[in-house]
Amino acid sequence: MSSQLTAPAAIVLAAGQGTRMRSRIPKVLHPLAGRPMLDHVLGALARAGIEHPVVVTGHGADDVEVALGDRAATVRQEPQRGTADAVRLGLERVAPGTETILVTMGDAPLQPAELFTALIRERDASGAALALVAARLPDPTGYGRIVRGADGGATAIVEEADADAETRAIDEINAGTYAFDAVWLRDAIGRVQPAASGELYLTDLLALALEDGRTACVVNAGDPSDALGINDRVGLAAAEERLRRRITEEHMRNGVTIVDPSTTRIDAAVEIGQDARIEPWTILSGATIIAQEAVVGPHAQVRDSRIGPRTHVWASVVEESTVAEDVSIGPYAHLRPGAEIGPRCRIGNFAEIKKSRLGAGTQQHHFSYLGDAEIGENVNVGAGSVTANYDGTAKHPTTVGDRVRLGVDTMMVAPVTIGAGATTGAGAVVTRDVAPGKTVVGMPARPIDVARSSDPPADESRDPGAGEAPVPSGGGSEPAVEADRTPPNGR
Ligand code: UD1
Ligand code: CA
Repeated sequence: MSSQLTAPAAIVLAAGQGTRMRSRIPKVLHPLAGRPMLDHVLGALARAGIEHPVVVTGHGADDVEVALGDRAATVRQEPQRGTADAVRLGLERVAPGTETILVTMGDAPLQPAELFTALIRERDASGAALALVAARLPDPTGYGRIVRGADGGATAIVEEADADAETRAIDEINAGTYAFDAVWLRDAIGRVQPAASGELYLTDLLALALEDGRTACVVNAGDPSDALGINDRVGLAAAEERLRRRITEEHMRNGVTIVDPSTTRIDAAVEIGQDARIEPWTILSGATIIAQEAVVGPHAQVRDSRIGPRTHVWASVVEESTVAEDVSIGPYAHLRPGAEIGPRCRIGNFAEIKKSRLGAGTQQHHFSYLGDAEIGENVNVGAGSVTANYDGTAKHPTTVGDRVRLGVDTMMVAPVTIGAGATTGAGAVVTRDVAPGKTVVGMPARPIDVARSSDPPADESRDPGAGEAPVPSGGGSEPAVEADRTPPNGR
């Protein structure tokens, strides 16, 4: 094997319109496993040691360039005259002195890094003008076919549109990924002649190399589906399926139990710890981290969140939230952006939490809402308790101290603070701060004197019960406040 003078460079073709997608979004930006298609190509190149490729943009260039950021150099191809024309432009941005140039397509996102590495190794070792990736596909429709000569060597690539029936019957296809001898490529690219359609085909370089008395070699994709090029949304869904399977298999090999991979969707960036268990019908997306021994699902959806060790998320939606260890979430909880759930909390039964922190051991069930709230430890949020955090113009904070017991239907009209150890009666509308240890009842809630029994033990076996709270005696908005008529536990 010849030694590399410089690291290989890469050109990624992404200027085409992607007409068959029938989309206003550039094809290479359509998401696959939670990331733009083009990101998968860039990721595989980076893993193959090619960090800063040249991306040829054109259709939707502004959007594609924004999505790329500083991860690639870009050059615009306008108009799009074909893949050879795109490479000619890309070459202008490749540093001189590069020995080998990899060319690949932005619409072929399933190619693994090893394929790029093997291709470059083969090109370098053989000294060929080019090495290209081929695959045998059960349905080769739409791809360029590889024509082999009497000696078995590849002699030409014929595009579907230009192929006769015999050539169309060939099931060996051109994946669209090549490693080139850079010096030869720079010379040959200008010699490509337009096809019948007027397009300049990169695939013509194979025949040109042979005319120049150079060799060309073919590397077979280990898994034929690695070569899949995405041209329409049917192809996009097929690629998604392949990628999902690859992702779930990788997690399983790393020690994660995935009970039913066929109903589990895990984005490429998700991290999952050892002995975590992902139950059926679960979607993990974005930058989500699931810690070891956590159980997620069945029927859970977690996006851009952290789930702590041994926590169970069951039939719930968690977005942009952080959940500590040993927590139970669900069924039917909704953690909206900014929820921070402390250790051993229990959240379920139509509980909604937004931009709020819950201290260790706090429980919230039964159709309740906490927004912009700071909730202490071992708090019991009674059924129907709600923070009225929005006055129509601005959001206001609610603070609830440790060991507070919020009676059923407590309304916390923010901004408001309920001190540690306080209790609210059923239906209390808390409009003013409550001092620590106090019991308040009514609308608006007023303090009453109760000899409160000692705080309930933070014991998991004890069901807090939705109705636990002092109930103001009498009705209406003027509740009686005599202590002796208001039992502390509402029984
Ligand atoms: C191309 C190959 C075909 C191969 C297939 C693999 C050619 C002529 N054909 O066909 O042999 O089997 O890929 O998927 O190369 N692009 C540009 N500028 C252009 C035209 C295209 O940048 O002027 C880009 C596209 O954005 C796309 C890639 O090149 O990412 C391939 O173009 P596409 O039109 O999809 O080519 P195919 O018909 O799939
Ligand atoms: Ca294509």
